[in-house]
Amino acid sequence: MRREIALLLGLALTLSPLTGCVRERRERTIRVGVTLYQQEDTFISALAQSLQQKALEEERIRGIKMNLSMMDGWGSQAVQTEQIDRFLDKGCDVICVNLVDRTAASTIIDKAHAAQVPIIFFNREPIREDLDRWDRAYYVGSHAAQAGELQGELVARAWRESSERMDRNGDGVLQYVMLEGEPGHQDALLRTEYSIKTLTEAGITVEKLANDAGDWQRGKASVLMTQWLQTYGDQIEVVFSNNDDMALGAIDACLEAGRSKEDLPFVVGVDATRPALEAVREGTLQGTVHNDADGQAESILSLICALAEGREPEKAVLLEGGTYVWLNHTVVTRENVDEIRSERRAAPILKALETGK
Ligand code: BGC
Ligand code: CA
Repeated sequence: MRREIALLLGLALTLSPLTGCVRERRERTIRVGVTLYQQEDTFISALAQSLQQKALEEERIRGIKMNLSMMDGWGSQAVQTEQIDRFLDKGCDVICVNLVDRTAASTIIDKAHAAQVPIIFFNREPIREDLDRWDRAYYVGSHAAQAGELQGELVARAWRESSERMDRNGDGVLQYVMLEGEPGHQDALLRTEYSIKTLTEAGITVEKLANDAGDWQRGKASVLMTQWLQTYGDQIEVVFSNNDDMALGAIDACLEAGRSKEDLPFVVGVDATRPALEAVREGTLQGTVHNDADGQAESILSLICALAEGREPEKAVLLEGGTYVWLNHTVVTRENVDEIRSERRAAPILKALETGK
């Protein structure tokens, strides 16, 4: 059932013969256990890849060795908890957890505390009382409400600028459907709430036609959207989606139902994954909100190194209340999509990882 994804990132330092340097001896190995809630999740796999890439860079630049053992929790808390037990048994210096079930945090923090191994949660946020159980439990993520607000602002601006195109039935009311992530996930709850709140606070009258959980998945969202198209057809003016994969699923459903690319409802997502950026460029996805996977990976890595080397984490990352590292979101539309793309293309180590060299 379990699959160990990877990777011993112990690349030998290669040294230029021109400088005549000798091979540097590795003084220190940092052992890190990382467990993902579901490796095939598009956003999570981008974040994980970025983390691997940055660990390689860290090894190269600082001449340390990083053993990053990354596991897939396969959507099962029981499987993930067992992986954490193994990380602790094996003597990891730090563990990083993308929880399957947010409510399982307290048990896991207690285990890490007993073993005196610092723990970094990311993307799936434990409640504050759980994080407060131990002062070496951290969370790296982005403010869920902010993503919702920015998504709402994006739609509000488009509605003001081109309501004649968006308001298909001309009644002055914005009719929408909402594709929600997994129930109970902070990003599903808060993105849903704040996107709509932002519109109504901007004075726009909205009408919800339908909402349901697509669990972050493109296929599930496409099934939901197919049903909604049958029931509401042309009445759907805007599709809000809690993430990009589901937004792409809604677009798939529209195209399969025979809509042309020019006749799609106004679809918006969150994440700015690679396929979503392509869709923004193509004009099928009207916009998204950049959920900074690279920034989160970078903060996680800085925290790992500080904690493993006994340095103060406050000096390595911007730490709110001794516990939280927050990354900012930005709006992405056709106007600025190339800026985000070139940022991603700049990553130099990716090739080495893909080819295994
Ligand atoms: C992302 C989703 C992802 C989820 C997984 C969210 O922050 O926007 O794309 O599926 O995290 O936990
Ligand atoms: Ca309308």
